[in-house]
Amino acid sequence: MKVFVTGGAGYIGSVCVEELIQAGHSVVVWDNLSEGHRAAVHPQAVFLQGDLLDRDLLGRVMGEQRPEAVIHFAGKALVPESMRDPSLYYRVNVSGGVNLLDAMVAAGCRKIIFSSTCATYGVPEKVPMNEETPQKPINPYGHSKLMFEQILAWYSQIHGIVPTCLRYFNASGASSERGEHHRVETHLIPNVLLAALGQRKEVEIFGTGHATPDGTCIRDYIHVRDLASAHILALDREKAGAFNVGTGQGHSVRGVIEMARKVTQKEICISEKPARAGDPPALVAAADKLQKELGWKPKHSGLEEILASAWDWHRTHPRGYSD
Ligand code: UFG
Repeated sequence: MKVFVTGGAGYIGSVCVEELIQAGHSVVVWDNLSEGHRAAVHPQAVFLQGDLLDRDLLGRVMGEQRPEAVIHFAGKALVPESMRDPSLYYRVNVSGGVNLLDAMVAAGCRKIIFSSTCATYGVPEKVPMNEETPQKPINPYGHSKLMFEQILAWYSQIHGIVPTCLRYFNASGASSERGEHHRVETHLIPNVLLAALGQRKEVEIFGTGHATPDGTCIRDYIHVRDLASAHILALDREKAGAFNVGTGQGHSVRGVIEMARKVTQKEICISEKPARAGDPPALVAAADKLQKELGWKPKHSGLEEILASAWDWHRTHPRGYSD
């Protein structure tokens, strides 16, 4: 299949492109390189540098490329940043997404797989959360992703778009060639590993008084290769709907740091800080729907394997994609 991948130079997108190409698909990557890296794009993918907000160019390119499906990774995805600059989130994630949909409609492309998030649920009444959990986001990031899910439903009804919304839990880990390199790193696992590498003095623990067993936030960490395989299955099966992509297993911030000490055999210093605004205490997936309807199974998402793969990548790429 010819697949148009927005954000294909980013962390999750670039690993998915690698797996799409291995599965025999032909891939066009559209990325503005604001977060992504040219070097992360698989050499067999066509790379086009462009911005979702450039509506005319996007329309023209989609008309020339005529893909059979779109996988839409591009977007702003940081909870704390969204609490400081909501406008950015609504412009890129909502307006940019509408530009993409309009270009698809004009080019006669119907199938879209969208990177949604468990942040659309807000603070769930109970965990694990399934897809019926009420979506009540508590930050503009989650809200912008929920808005786009709702826009997709209308484009489905009016224009016959077939949307699959994959609600990611916490993407983590690395493939042998591609890993997590953000220009400003805010995520827990890379920060912990940068501390193990000596590139950070310590790991800050945001919030130690949450209503969780050890007081730190609990997240469901999913290996980026398992996330990628969910996209490949969604593409093959043409299944519309919303699906959680997580493991059902939660790990606290302290638990992640402990495992990182074991995997890296390095000293990792910590400092305790106040909780971050907009951070729910616990997010854990019930992902039975994806397993039942698409036959997906996480194969690499044990916390030890996640950290070992990320550590291999960080050790061998100490400057990320900059070296
Ligand atoms: N944390 C720390 N110290 C750090 C970084 C993070 O204690 O240096 C804590 C956070 O407060 C949070 C947890 O570790 O409790 C995980 O934080 P991340 O920043 O790694 O991830 P988030 O859960 O905030 O968000 C990520 C993605 C979102 C996605 C979400 C799903 O950035 O795009 O996972 O839960 F939607």
